[in-house]
Amino acid sequence: MDHREFIQQLQRELQLELARLDALPLAQPGQSAPAAVIELLKLALKSEIEASEIAASWMLTTPEMDLKLGLARQCGDEARHFYLIQQRLLELGFPAQDYNPVAHGYSPLFRYLRTLHGTVERLAAAQFAREGIAHKMNGRFIAYLEQAGDLPSAAMYRNVVQPEEAAHHEFAIRMLGKYANTPEAQTSARAAMRRSLELSDEFRELAGNALGSAAIPAS
Ligand SMILES: [Fe+2]
Ligand SMILES: [Fe+2]
Repeated sequence: MDHREFIQQLQRELQLELARLDALPLAQPGQSAPAAVIELLKLALKSEIEASEIAASWMLTTPEMDLKLGLARQCGDEARHFYLIQQRLLELGFPAQDYNPVAHGYSPLFRYLRTLHGTVERLAAAQFAREGIAHKMNGRFIAYLEQAGDLPSAAMYRNVVQPEEAAHHEFAIRMLGKYANTPEAQTSARAAMRRSLELSDEFRELAGNALGSAAIPAS
């Protein structure tokens, strides 16, 4: 399949998945800021450090120079997001300097991403699917923050985090267009995207049930 057609197919599939999120309410009644925001930002820290670590580990095993440098940039972006969220948590009164979000283990999505070795599978699962979901979920999170009255957190997401998550997703589209150019590569990329979507879906359901919010930030 022509690579443009392939990317369009992937995008359509992702958009269908993301459209399902619009049907969910942002928060359950009774949830109040800042306690609820603190819990959600703690989840965001975990997502940021996982995204940064994945990019760092893949950088070492990626021979293509444009990909390697893109991963380096992403690794730094996610680390900066981590730092900003940590600062915001401190402002909200949570002792984030002592908080290690992966002290009790990594997410199923992270563990799945660690099993991927092919360039196009990695791109499809992480930078394409995960970052696409992150951008959508963060848009909902911004709306939730505004509804909850936490305008500084909303501004941090809108002005810094969101544009960079969008750039990570755009990077995947460009790189998949370049490297997913055989039927085998396209088949494995599609399978990896689907597995990533399934795992994200499970996470959202679990986290949403536990926290009473369907507006969960991600990276
Ligand atoms: Fe990201
Ligand atoms: Fe991020």
